[in-house]
Amino acid sequence: MKKLTEMSREELSQFYTQTESAYTAFKLRGLQLNMARGKPSQEQLDLTRNLHQPITDFLDEDGDDVRNYGKLLGIPEARRLFGEILQVPSSQVIAGGVSSLNLMYDMICRAYIYGVLPQYTPWRLLPQVKFLCPVPGYDRHFAITESLGFTHIPVPMHDDGPDMDMIDRLVAEDDSIKGIWCVPMYSNPDGITYSDAVVRRFAALKPAAADFRIFWDNAYCVHHLYPNQPERQDHLLSIYEACQEQGSEDMVYLFASTSKITMASAGISAMAMSPANFVWTVEKLSLQTIGYNRVNQLMHARYMPDLSSVEQVMSRHADLLRPRFELVLNKLQAEISPLGIAQWRKPRGGYFISFFALPGTARRVVALCKEAGLVLTGAGATYPGGHDPLDSNIRLAPSYPSLQELERAMELFCVCVKLAAAERLLAQ
Ligand SMILES: Cc1ncc(COP(=O)(O)O)c(C=O)c1O
Repeated sequence: MKKLTEMSREELSQFYTQTESAYTAFKLRGLQLNMARGKPSQEQLDLTRNLHQPITDFLDEDGDDVRNYGKLLGIPEARRLFGEILQVPSSQVIAGGVSSLNLMYDMICRAYIYGVLPQYTPWRLLPQVKFLCPVPGYDRHFAITESLGFTHIPVPMHDDGPDMDMIDRLVAEDDSIKGIWCVPMYSNPDGITYSDAVVRRFAALKPAAADFRIFWDNAYCVHHLYPNQPERQDHLLSIYEACQEQGSEDMVYLFASTSKITMASAGISAMAMSPANFVWTVEKLSLQTIGYNRVNQLMHARYMPDLSSVEQVMSRHADLLRPRFELVLNKLQAEISPLGIAQWRKPRGGYFISFFALPGTARRVVALCKEAGLVLTGAGATYPGGHDPLDSNIRLAPSYPSLQELERAMELFCVCVKLAAAERLLAQ
């Protein structure tokens, strides 16, 4: 098959006509498919169905009854589990409720209302607050800081993480830059893991703003697709340890959850931070809540007492996710690769495949898919303000549909990618 850009006009018109008739045939099938959000499939949810087995005693390892008020920081066994996951001492971990996004939102709001430590001005009193956003990135991160009126500065992602030269320069020269959103492992949506060098450069940043904070959202830190093949897994250096070496540990907040380990709506979450950040955060957190759901923390900690038991659960998730990812990648390879109209990343973990359509066609691809019954994440959603300057990136989420549905969905997606590209090239 010839590349689309190398086709004569006549060949291109012919290609367009053929693709359009394939598309029309799809429309007539009345499909109802969804690859929009990274939701676990039914089979994945069933993996941990015994999690909520009745607990006969409600005592944590200190002997405290988890049904009662108390322990704002969470039960010791849950704090220890997340300490292991996030590679931070458990004394600096707060085990939370169902959502790590909620912890991030609250962390931003505390900085906004009270400042990140007592000696710093609350961000709400500053004329402008800027945030760095590696792109493409997670739309819900951007939505939080956008809702508070922060100015977003997109930072391009490279194969080993965000552009550190740009970050170094920007944070050093502008003290209104107060933070950065990071998904350092199997990033959403690119599936990129930051290299050791990138993590070390983060730890060594010298921001002009002393209250600059890195929001290290390690949502996919145990989400390998090839858990039994270490050579096919990414590895992430501990940012907390790297910061300790630099004496910069106040600069980072770490987050994780079990949403994609146990149950997305009924998991547990955690945040970890330096001793100074911890004291201040706990003081303010105690105004917000008497405590998180420790009954759920106990159920989780009994079900998965340590990292190795988490890894066992994750290996079963991988068995379900791997064929879905491979199906998507194989389809793209067979259908799109020869045409030279798009690129995509081949993640070794996480929940997404980041697809870069012919610039100027992502919105059209998403619209064509929708018209024929396939819902995708909105084009542009992976950029602050929903604006992808190249109109190219589309986030594919293969976890939720069955393999059969995914096969249909990818056939339709590939037809739409081709049709939108042919349309665009013919219009030039
Ligand atoms: C990068 C990232 N962080 C956080 C979340 C949400 O996590 P939680 O369910 O713990 O709020 C998601 C969900 O898709 C995500 O992709």
